[in-house]
Amino acid sequence: MLARDEMKRYYVIGTMRDLKRKDKLVEAAGDAYGKTLSLLTLDVCSDESVKQCVDSIKDRHIDILINNAGVGLVGPVEALSLDEMKQVFKTNFYGVVRMIKEVMPDMKSRRSGHIIVISSVLGLHGVAFNDVYSASKFATEGLCEGLAIQLMNFNVNVSMIEPGPVNTEFEMKLMIEVSKKEFVGADPETLDHFRTCYLPTQVNLFQGLGQTPEDIARVTKKVIESPQPPFRNLTNPLYTPIVALKYADETGSLSVHTFYHMLYNLGGVMHVTVRIMKFLSFGWLRRRAISPT
Ligand SMILES: NC(=O)c1ccc[n+]([C@@H]2O[C@H](COP(=O)([O-])OP(=O)(O)OC[C@H]3O[C@@H](n4cnc5c(N)ncnc54)[C@H](OP(=O)(O)O)[C@@H]3O)[C@@H](O)[C@H]2O)c1
Repeated sequence: MLARDEMKRYYVIGTMRDLKRKDKLVEAAGDAYGKTLSLLTLDVCSDESVKQCVDSIKDRHIDILINNAGVGLVGPVEALSLDEMKQVFKTNFYGVVRMIKEVMPDMKSRRSGHIIVISSVLGLHGVAFNDVYSASKFATEGLCEGLAIQLMNFNVNVSMIEPGPVNTEFEMKLMIEVSKKEFVGADPETLDHFRTCYLPTQVNLFQGLGQTPEDIARVTKKVIESPQPPFRNLTNPLYTPIVALKYADETGSLSVHTFYHMLYNLGGVMHVTVRIMKFLSFGWLRRRAISPT
């Protein structure tokens, strides 16, 4: 979307771990590829790869850094290995830290720049069976909230993009993982809740509330082009009331109990609930931003 900007205001360097898989992206880029878009190899989990990538850019000059790489992990915590959990943090948290450490000092010395992180609504509230993924996004939110304050002195902006469900390969990859796993270590009751409450609810949420990658790109472009880019940016207005629960009751009871009922009591009628939410939020709610009131 940025590379195809009509006014050609952007030169985009897209990155991927394996350039052999670039065909779909090149096809989507059309004429922009080779003109306003080029591709580089990057693994956010490797110091060497990150350094090589940034060093290969002319004068290491990056005006806008978009951290998008992320991996998911679902299942009962007691059935997940610490190695699996560390891999989530290595990508979702330390990957962002590594990129920021490499790019931010140049932005500070130029006194100009914008760091964008594709976070998640799960970086704002926890969801059962997504505990570790959610923790990795909370960690990233905390890191960036601190940086946003410090970097104001250097005219460098920090913005979080917080999507709800997005129909990408993300969920499919998770479902493939789930179908292969036996979740050894979880008791039968918890496993039953995971399989009969959580998984069907997820499918309903993705079908009912899922946005497209283009929706997320549009929000991100708007944030980039804003004269005063907001720090938090929910992409899906249907989520505004859900996130607002946290601000409405500082004890946390309201959000914890609401999520409990959504998962265990409303799971079976989630598709109806989603339709009602869509209906109620059409129009005025779609234009509202989240606020403490
Ligand atoms: N889909 C959703 O519902 C959803 C909702 C909220 C937030 N998000 C966030 O949105 C971002 C994009 O996810 P997506 O939905 O587009 O999922 P996706 O289709 O699975 O894309 C994730 C991307 O991250 C890349 N990646 C993973 N590990 C990497 C590493 N070590 N170095 C470089 N790249 C790496 C993957 O590359 P490979 O192809 O090489 O694996 C893939 O291109 C993630 O941060 C995710 O947490 C997604």
